[in-house]
Amino acid sequence: MHAPARFSLPGISGWQPFTKGPHSELFRAPTSKPILAKVIRPRSQPRDTLRKYVNAQARREWRSAFRLQDAGLEAPRVHGWAVSISPFAPYESILFMEEIEGFKTSLRFIRESENAADRRLFFDDLAADMARLHGHGLIHKDGHFGNIGWGSGDQLIWIDNDIRFANTPAKLEKGFLHMRQMLERTARNDVHAEEWRYFDQRLRMQLERWPKARALGATLR
Ligand SMILES: Nc1ncnc2c1ncn2[C@@H]1O[C@H](COP(=O)(O)OP(=O)(O)OP(=O)(O)O)[C@@H](O)[C@H]1O
Ligand SMILES: [Mg+2]
Repeated sequence: MHAPARFSLPGISGWQPFTKGPHSELFRAPTSKPILAKVIRPRSQPRDTLRKYVNAQARREWRSAFRLQDAGLEAPRVHGWAVSISPFAPYESILFMEEIEGFKTSLRFIRESENAADRRLFFDDLAADMARLHGHGLIHKDGHFGNIGWGSGDQLIWIDNDIRFANTPAKLEKGFLHMRQMLERTARNDVHAEEWRYFDQRLRMQLERWPKARALGATLR
């Protein structure tokens, strides 16, 4: 396990099932500030079983959280990560992190909210965050509405992160278009054509603020 010395792992008996994701199960320790353990299953074999010894998903999420926070974006505080040593283990790795109380995904929001003004505010915020991400030369391998949401405040919070540094402008552009497509693919029926146009327009405007990412605006329709 990799964690700073100040992190003490809560005793094994208190953990309760919290929720299940498509490739993970989350458990919650009832500490004064609740801690979540995200237990991650391999998705693709033999890729994940080989990769876990070098760069397990929990390690990638851990590093991604710091990268996002350094760029001024909000992500849950991460406490530590561990990897299962056996190649036959049903789980690949485990991430310990802060629970965002009442976390709600933006996928749920765009499916449920009919308030046009609120929806626009969300697309404003998403465009600002996405421009900031790429403005820092970062790309997201899994940036979709299910992994971006809110806790109790208005600020967007990014969970389930796989953030890389783009070493070249070509990689930055590829990563940017990948995220833009991923957003659309995972919410095709939940966002109106006119909202996509609005989002792209805001995105183009926000990208202007970031010298590294300015050229990306021209890649949008
Ligand atoms: N830090 C957190 N605080 C509160 N809820 C969380 C947190 N992290 C995850 N969740 C909840 O658990 C759900 C699944 O989490 P997550 O998206 O990380 O898993 P996943 O999609 O299965 O991951 P992966 O696709 O990487 O296997 C989220 O939609 C969210 O409701
Ligand atoms: Mg997810």
